[in-house]
Formats: sequence, structure tokens, C-alpha cells
Amino acid sequence: MRLERLKLRSYRNYPALDVAFSPQINVLIGANAQGKTNLLEAIYVLALARSHRTSNDRELIRFGAEFARIEGTVSRATGDVGLELVISKAGKKARVNRIEQPKLSQYLGKFNVVLFAPEDLAIVKGSPATRRRFIDMEFGQMSAKYLYNLTQYRTMLRQRNAYLKQLKFHQAKDRVFLDVLSDQLAAFGAEIVVARARLLAQMADFAAVIHQGITKGQETLTFAYQTQVPADQRASTEAAYQALSELFAAHRDREIEQGTTLVGPHRDDVAFVVNGKDVASFGSQGQQRTTALAVKLAEIDLMKANTGEYPVLLLDDVLSELDDDRQTHLLKAIQNKVQTFLTTTSLDGIAREIIDAPAVFRVAGGELTAVSGDEAGAEADSEADPDAGGDETAPDPGPDEPDKPAPTDTQQTDET
Ligand SMILES: Nc1ncnc2c1ncn2[C@@H]1O[C@H](COP(=O)(O)OP(=O)(O)OP(=O)(O)O)[C@@H](O)[C@H]1O
Ligand SMILES: [Mg+2]
Repeated sequence: MRLERLKLRSYRNYPALDVAFSPQINVLIGANAQGKTNLLEAIYVLALARSHRTSNDRELIRFGAEFARIEGTVSRATGDVGLELVISKAGKKARVNRIEQPKLSQYLGKFNVVLFAPEDLAIVKGSPATRRRFIDMEFGQMSAKYLYNLTQYRTMLRQRNAYLKQLKFHQAKDRVFLDVLSDQLAAFGAEIVVARARLLAQMADFAAVIHQGITKGQETLTFAYQTQVPADQRASTEAAYQALSELFAAHRDREIEQGTTLVGPHRDDVAFVVNGKDVASFGSQGQQRTTALAVKLAEIDLMKANTGEYPVLLLDDVLSELDDDRQTHLLKAIQNKVQTFLTTTSLDGIAREIIDAPAVFRVAGGELTAVSGDEAGAEADSEADPDAGGDETAPDPGPDEPDKPAPTDTQQTDET
């Protein structure tokens, strides 16, 4: 899939923008603090209705403005889709082909992106919660069912934890009700474990091939899914449900004592193993970086396998972090199949010969200017929006003042 056109209004440091992109590689070049990451973030938010940089949507609204708007035209195998997201202080409103979506879950999944930024090294080195968040974001993008089960699981988990606290402090006595909550948690948890097991295995296969390529066959990457459901009970929801039910029963007294749910997929993790060793603990900086890159690139194949289309790739400041070999591998892997947006402060460190006719845009002070020979057919026309206005200091909300926001039914918590 491709992002053909992007329109911004009062987004971060962009007062107004209207730009058409190349279906291949788009290079965003500019000095620090000019709006390169902001632009990638806007594309990410258009896809996922949340930022990768902040959980506070208000930060996305340009200082002094009432709301931010992101609009995009996405071309998919099934036709063009118009997406629109309006973020106001009261919440956000999402439209697909101009039709407002009452639930964000109905909006998500229309546009898939894979973002790779320097902080993605945290996938390898960071906490289990970081990896769970990564897994949930990716799998949630690919599967509405996964997102649904996850949302339900989180709701049940909050209820169960609240009830466990009541039991702990003797404000409640009814253990039968705890069993009811446990049963529902096991049912949604089983769906999550089975989906994670399946998708992680699929992703590991893709990642292993990519990793072999980058390390020239010298290293082997495998994934180890770490969950309390035994390995032989992760293939069917009935078996996983059985395992989780037994786990909750076995931990019941301790969970009441501690007033919280101690077992379940909200404690899952995945270990990345290179040549038999956990790369987070034993890998060199370079090995960790290669692993993160292979995992990210595997996401592209995984999305293609599960949605039928390649996602759009967003690379923030990563080329300069990679040596020539890894750069070449990365660019070869995406060439001609994945629309890519990459940011850089300079073209110097980039192996230009392997970027096939990129569209280059200069980013300065929240404005975009096309600077290449336009072989790729890209054009920037940030002045073309008739209602965009040129007033940078006080963008006029105009007739499109957002009304009531959509309920944020998929809002993430850090719990799982
Ligand atoms: N809500 C906002 N309203 C207006 N400006 C904002 C807002 N949020 C961030 N900015 C501005 O955006 C700029 C940062 O933009 P961005 O992070 O895109 O920079 P960048 O081009 O990626 O730079 P670098 O090369 O350092 O990564 C900062 O100057 C910041 O003040
Ligand atoms: Mg940046």
C-alpha cells in the first residue's frame, strides 16, 4: 500500500501542509528541529491513531491551535481509502472516506506502517513491557481480532485486579465471582497466547532469513516466546484456556494475598536468541542493532503475509546509524516493493547509488520543498491547499471545527 497524499493542519510545527509523495523512496532532509520526525509521526498517527513518541495526544496539536488534523489518501489493492483524524483537546475523531467511525477500532488497520527509529533498539534491550507493547502494536495492526481480544483482556484484568484488592482488604468475600472473572480472563488470554505463538513463529522465520543475509550466514536468529502457558498448549485456544484456568486456580490464594493477577499473558515476553544466546544479555551493540533491524524488516514480510499488502516503511534517522553493509541490505530488502519515508540531516552517509531515483524533500521550519529532479514523480505543493492559509502564527480553525470526539475504545494502558 502507498500513502499518495498527506495533508496536515496545525500538526506539531506544521501550520498547513499538502503534499504528494513518490510511491517508492521519499527522502526527508533537513537540519535538526525542522520537522522531519514530526512528519513521520503524522504518518504513523494517521495509521495507528496514536503517536509513537507520546501518549498525550494534545502534544500533537500545534502550539496555540485548537485542534490538529491529519488527512491522507492511501492507495490499496482494493482501491483508494481516504483517512482523516482530528485531534482536539476533547479527544479524537476518525473518518474513513469521510464517514465518521464511532469506534477507533473500526478506523484502525486501513493503513499499515512499520516505523524504525533509533529507539527501536529498545525492542531488544528494553524491558519485557517494551516488547509486549511492540508485539501488541504490530499484531493489533494486522488483526482486528487480536486487537479486540487484547482490549477485552485488559478490561477483564483491571476488573479482576480491583476485585482481588477487595478480597485482600476483606471488602468482598465472594470467591465464586472471582472464579467468573478468572474464567473470562482465561478465555481472552487464551486467544492472545495462541495468536502470539502463531505470529511470533511466523515472524521469527522471516527474521531468521533476513538476519542470515545481514550477517552473511554467520549468525542464526531465533525467537523464544516466554509465556506461562506450556509450549504444547499454545496451538489451540482450548488447550491454552485449560492451561490458563489451571494457572489462575493454582495462584488464587497468592493473588488474593497480593491483590493482583500474577499470571497470564500480561506477563509474557519474547527473547531474541543469536547463536543460542540471548542477545539482550550477551550480544554486542552491533549484534543487538542487527537483531533489531532484522525484527523490524520481518514485520514488513509478516504484514504482507497477513494482510496481503506491504506496509509503508518509516525510517527515522536510522541510515546514519547503520554501516554500509547494513544500509545496503536494508535498502535492497525494500527496493521496489515498499514505499519508504526516510529522514536524514545529510545525504552524505547514504549509499546513494542504491536508492533508485528517490524523491527528495527539504524540511525547514515545518515546510516541505521538493528538491530532486522529480524522476520519481513526486511533487510537493504545500501552497496548493486553498483553505490552508499562510498564517503561521494563528491558524484559523475555519468551518471544520471538530465536534464531539470518538470514544477511544482502544486506548492503550501499560498493563499488558
Ligand atoms: N505541538 C507543537 N507545536 C509546535 N511546534 C512543535 C510542537 N511539538 C514540537 N514542535 C517543534 O517541532 C520541532 C521538532 O521537530 P522534529 O522532532 O520533527 O525535528 P527533526 O527535524 O526530526 O530534528 P532532528 O534532526 O533533531 O531529529 C521542535 O522545534 C519543536 O519545538
Ligand atoms: Mg528527528
